[in-house]
Amino acid sequence: MKKLSNGRLSVEADSFTDHFHSSISFDSRMYREDILGSIAHARMLGKQNIIDKAEAELIISGLEDILRDIEKGKISFDEKAEDIHMNVESILTERIGAAGKRLHTGRSRNDQVALDIRMYLKTKIKEIKVLIHRLLGVLNKIAEENTETIMPGFTHLQNAQPVTLAHHVLAYFEMFSRDSDRLSDCFKRTNVMPLGSGALAATTYNLDREAVMAELGFDSITRNSMDGVSDRDFVCETLFCLSVLMMHLSRFCEELVLWSSRQFGFIEISDAYATGSSIMPQKKNPDMAELIRGKTGRVYGELMALMTTLKGLPLAYNKDMQEDKEGVFDAIDTVMMCLPVFTNMLDTMTVNGDRMLSSARLGFMNATDAADWLVKQGMPFREAHSVIGGIVMYCIEKGKNLEDLSLEEYKSFSSLFTNDIYESIDLRECVNRRRVKGGPSKEYIDTVIAENKRLLEGERFL
Ligand code: ARG
Repeated sequence: MKKLSNGRLSVEADSFTDHFHSSISFDSRMYREDILGSIAHARMLGKQNIIDKAEAELIISGLEDILRDIEKGKISFDEKAEDIHMNVESILTERIGAAGKRLHTGRSRNDQVALDIRMYLKTKIKEIKVLIHRLLGVLNKIAEENTETIMPGFTHLQNAQPVTLAHHVLAYFEMFSRDSDRLSDCFKRTNVMPLGSGALAATTYNLDREAVMAELGFDSITRNSMDGVSDRDFVCETLFCLSVLMMHLSRFCEELVLWSSRQFGFIEISDAYATGSSIMPQKKNPDMAELIRGKTGRVYGELMALMTTLKGLPLAYNKDMQEDKEGVFDAIDTVMMCLPVFTNMLDTMTVNGDRMLSSARLGFMNATDAADWLVKQGMPFREAHSVIGGIVMYCIEKGKNLEDLSLEEYKSFSSLFTNDIYESIDLRECVNRRRVKGGPSKEYIDTVIAENKRLLEGERFL
């Protein structure tokens, strides 16, 4: 059979060339978008009297049958037909005859593929937002259960100041909620209907682009036909959004790996999300967290690959652009696997609050609070900093913590010390006195958790 696109070619491509440039092995996943787009296009062609109404009906019912048959697994695609667009069209023509040949009137595969990928990404962005929404719910739940779970806060991975586990996980709540917002923003620019751009210079047919836009649920239509077929910004943006999301997952995974080590012992990952070792019988490894961390690299890679592919392309369509799909599909698949695994892993982990607290007692994390206490008694901060520095050195020598020193010992460093110093260096106090908005105090965190609950019930994350 002569190929649909071989108007002026007399020699058939050899099978290896067909295999090389065919995209059906990966773009077949857009069959639904392709068919719905064609149905809308055919309906509009009929309404506009560009093709006969009866033929338009025939095309539409033919396409609906093909969609059903694909979903039942009854159709196998042909590599020789190159891509999903030509596969669907040739199956249609085989089934309904001459009318099928009218479907492509006023359309090019260039605007067709731009339409399909936009529709596909719109669906996936929404699905990913649902997965993020679930993760946010679990984070908020963990926070709610741990508003008084004291743990060390780190800088340079050294004990710095005490925080709570709630404060720590709510930092991630902020990151993942921005990831969700970023996807919504990207959705807006993806939600533009390119059909009508034709190959690059639009078409002489009197298309009703707005009708197609409305039927397919788009917000607006592209304003320039050359841009309509050349623009892949929205694919780059999707990849960027997914890269940042993976970065956040990866940072948290790194912490889970650390926290589940014997040295930290802050958490225990459920057996369902851990693995053993083939040689060391005692081992329980945080493989899922490591794998998510590892998969982050490939998502970044897809972003760089597409940006690099696009950077030298003259307007308008070039076949290079076919390379947009495998990368973004892989990034989507990766994110859609990682998110539920991660969410479930968090949801089922055990928090070891005692270990967090005893670790928070190490490293004089209340030293800033002790200095602040002296400042409140009238000492200039620089002086207080140096007095407490001296006390810390003394403690290290004696193998003690700040809270273990007697009042006499304190007084030997400054006559300003009274019994009140002990309350001010109590770790729980150190946390809860940080009442400023954005801080770790239980008082403030409780309000954040309540607000998060309201947000999770609203529209923002859906
Ligand atoms: N498979 C192609 C792609 O993914 C469809 C567009 C082909 N257009 C063309 N003029 N060769 O980009």
